[in-house]
Amino acid sequence: MTITALDPDFRVDHHLDGDHDHALAEDVLDGLTRPFKELPPKYFYDARGSELFEQICELPEYYPTRAEREILATNAADIVARTGATELVELGSGYATKTRVLLDAMRDAGALERYTAFDVSETTVLACGDQLTREYAGLRFHGVVGDFDRHLDTIPSPDGPRIVAFLGGTIGNFLPGSRRRFLRGLSDLLGPDGYLLLGTDLVKAPDVLEAAYNDSAGVTAAFNRNVLSVVNARLGADFDVDLFEHVAFYDRTREWIEMRLRARAACTVTVPALGLRVAFAAREELRTEISAKFAPARLRDDLAAAGLDLETTYRDRERRFGVSLSRVAR
Ligand code: SAH
Ligand code: TRP
Repeated sequence: MTITALDPDFRVDHHLDGDHDHALAEDVLDGLTRPFKELPPKYFYDARGSELFEQICELPEYYPTRAEREILATNAADIVARTGATELVELGSGYATKTRVLLDAMRDAGALERYTAFDVSETTVLACGDQLTREYAGLRFHGVVGDFDRHLDTIPSPDGPRIVAFLGGTIGNFLPGSRRRFLRGLSDLLGPDGYLLLGTDLVKAPDVLEAAYNDSAGVTAAFNRNVLSVVNARLGADFDVDLFEHVAFYDRTREWIEMRLRARAACTVTVPALGLRVAFAAREELRTEISAKFAPARLRDDLAAAGLDLETTYRDRERRFGVSLSRVAR
């Protein structure tokens, strides 16, 4: 780990130096040698991937960002009053575009002391530190470049009431078992007085869901394929990126969107760093992400199984998206 600054009011910790390529290599070896090939979604987010995701958030078809922003704008003052939080820790913070709504409400309540941005994408963490410390006078900024599957315990314990925010529906990107394990692992981070502010996309008509992951401008397709460019750049693999087409569909039984990359023709990919050759049959698919959609029972049961008490769920006017507040059960 390296710390780029020792100023207690501006600090960035790096937990991925060297280690991230090793983790990627392990995940690629595991994922590409399975009978149903798969890659974990965290590798989408290099600098270009993070940029493409910001573009997805602006697309007319991608409603979750607008719906979640509406919820935060309507309820931020209530969230701040209920939680009494002076600190906001955000997981998967990205460019923290919507987060400003919460930071504004904390500042207006005279409660804003510290913001922690935790993300696997270094460019977004550094950009947040740069911009937010300029926008919010006196804000103590703590950036963490890390993997929330492995490095959550590097965040200091709370010394007062804090909000741990996990927005954008990113919780839906875990498979069900990992999702509960992840939520259970948040209790130290929350502490006895902390609140989890969790954004979840809601179950709705399949055509609306599918359009959100199949935009007409092709930005989502470019984002999906970007994971292959990341594997090429970091492990010296030779994926022919344009040979793979973007596939996204709603699985009605599992209630999740599934994102895949389909080989248009048979091909062989070599990954020299792993001494690996992987054959793809024509039309063979590689799963790159799921995005689970939540009915009230799924949310309630997941939180309960993770030892969290659901306090309230806010929804947008069209009831497309939910933001819930919960705390560690006593
Ligand atoms: N919170 C933002 C971004 C959501 S996209 C929003 O609501 O718009 C998901 C974010 O989580 C990205 O910024 C990505 O870099 C980050 N992320 C994905 N997997 C991660 C992991 N394993 N550890 C840390 N951050 C991760
Ligand atoms: N957290 C986002 C979601 O599940 C991630 C996402 C949006 C995504 N669009 C995507 C991931 C397209 C891969 C491809 O909604």
